[in-house]
Amino acid sequence: MGREKDANLLKVEKVVEPKPLCGDGARFDDYESLYAESLKSREKFWEKLASELHWFKRWERVWNGKFKGARWFEGGKTNVCYNCLDRNLKRGLRNKVAIIYANEREEERKLTYGELHELVGRLASGLKRLGVRKGDRVLIYMPNTPEAAAAMLACARIGAVHSVVFAGFSREALKVRIGDAEPKVVITATYTVRRGKKVDLLSTAREAVKDFPFVEKLVVWDRDGEEKLGPAEVEFYDLVAENREVAPAEEMDAEDPLFILYTSGTTGKPKGVLHTTGGYMVGVYATTGWDFNLKDDDVYWCTADVGWITGHSYIVYGPLLNGITTVMYEGAPNYPDPGIWWRLVERYRVNVFYTAPTAVRLFMRYGEDYPRRYDLSSLRVIGSVGEPINPEAWEWYYRVIGGEKCPVVDTWWQTETGMHVILTWPHTKAKPGYAGRPFFTVEVDVVDKEGNPLPPNRVGYLVIKTPWPAMFRTVWKNPERYDRYWEVVKGYYCPEDLATKDEEGFIAILGRADDVLNVAGHRIGTAEVESALLEHPAVAEAAVIGKPDEIKGERIKAFVVLKVGYEPSEKLAEEIRRTVREVLGPIAVPEELEFVEKLPKTRSGKIMRRLLRARELGQEVGDLSTLED
Ligand code: PRX
Repeated sequence: MGREKDANLLKVEKVVEPKPLCGDGARFDDYESLYAESLKSREKFWEKLASELHWFKRWERVWNGKFKGARWFEGGKTNVCYNCLDRNLKRGLRNKVAIIYANEREEERKLTYGELHELVGRLASGLKRLGVRKGDRVLIYMPNTPEAAAAMLACARIGAVHSVVFAGFSREALKVRIGDAEPKVVITATYTVRRGKKVDLLSTAREAVKDFPFVEKLVVWDRDGEEKLGPAEVEFYDLVAENREVAPAEEMDAEDPLFILYTSGTTGKPKGVLHTTGGYMVGVYATTGWDFNLKDDDVYWCTADVGWITGHSYIVYGPLLNGITTVMYEGAPNYPDPGIWWRLVERYRVNVFYTAPTAVRLFMRYGEDYPRRYDLSSLRVIGSVGEPINPEAWEWYYRVIGGEKCPVVDTWWQTETGMHVILTWPHTKAKPGYAGRPFFTVEVDVVDKEGNPLPPNRVGYLVIKTPWPAMFRTVWKNPERYDRYWEVVKGYYCPEDLATKDEEGFIAILGRADDVLNVAGHRIGTAEVESALLEHPAVAEAAVIGKPDEIKGERIKAFVVLKVGYEPSEKLAEEIRRTVREVLGPIAVPEELEFVEKLPKTRSGKIMRRLLRARELGQEVGDLSTLED
């Protein structure tokens, strides 16, 4: 297997090695020896970290000895919400700010740990009064606000399983997820704000729950207090106020489900990735603390949205478990102007900043002037997630945002892994273009299809060889899809990313090996977009590919075969694109749409997207055929 000639693959030739930036109070200074030691005492390593959190009852064994089917901290009883809130009150953090909320209009709200505890506890009582019990699902379709975090924490408090759906998804996407998770209650808001406009969420939510009798109540955060609610609807803050009792935190088994989060796969149906309580909690607690070299008084801002795994692990759970101050931002990164984020960094004296390469590239386009206008000297660590950060963007981020003093912590992981798995440690040297090296106790490698390790700098499958506590436990209602992760490369967990590893063990991620796109750091299944295209009455067949995009990493191009009787036109193309927007949401809309007579297919009728893509990019149909089934 050689290096594929593909515009999507990163150039990893340019290697800059900035000096490791430890600053004072670095948690360690010798990664190699600590890592080697952690491999020898995996269970001891995690047990020590777990002991820093609160358990109602201590676990009987740290790990059950399995990789596929791994269970962690069995026999232990704990509660993630208790550890995020009550434990911190007990540590004297009641009056410390837990969440700073800010938006495009620069409105702000601050909630202390005490206030958040009160809000969450009362909301939890409210949910109980609506009949939500341990194990019941609650679907959360909310803007990136403290209310969304409170809803997640309230579920965790009473043992309800939350499933957050990104507020940028629209009707069909929401419906499919509701249909699969079967929630008793759906929590939504009247709208979210983006680019100065209110984006309606309530109508979408109402439309989506209509056909599902198992949804007993729709909880609506009426942001302007103007909505007339129906008999099966209850207002968020009414529910909070009616319940003056702070619900006690339920004692959960370590392996009780915590949440389901849907992610795109190769079929049209998204996968409900299921995470459980104890292992996830310990994993995100540890990685937030170690990987950003957190200090107790840090103000930390992860610019993701609670609708994605990054929001779950590194806006809500990880930071709150560590008792720090987490910033939540609602709105676009460049509205009302491209200085908004840097103004907020200055205002809140943000110490740790965590964003996606697509945002960095967007800001690069606006030039250095905007960030230069603000005092970014509070920043100590800057992170990256969601897609490979190309060396040019890395350099800009390091120099302009980090002021050549902040380590760029690139973090590779997935919805399924729950926590960072590969990263550029702030305490070690960095190699732009490489994601970095594994977290303690986790072994990763680059292998061929049979699982044989490849020599350095060859392209192959990234695999994870050993378990970690925050790994997902199954795919909701779909154990076969869970099995599949261990079948691509026998015996290992295969994330289906292509990668290379250099002589020092630094891993570079080169892109996906399957039919999943990464648009602006968001995983989008080609099949999902194709089925959305097919919702338009004129579309007979559709195929979708990713094309390299300077800012988004990839952008979507659709090939459409029309039904007999329809003529290609700009207007029709626009209409079809609108259908995708309505069905899936703005992130999934193909930027390009081409009408074609027919699509290339295999003999068994599978669309050959790779061929379409190669043709589109004027490439040879690479030698990746060895990786294909
Ligand atoms: O392809 C990898 C890419 O995003 C995928 C996971 O997507 P998702 O589950 O939505 O989670 C995104 C946030 C963790 C991976 O399989 N990916 C994520 N982080 C990186 C990355 N690719 C390269 N470098 C990263 N740091």
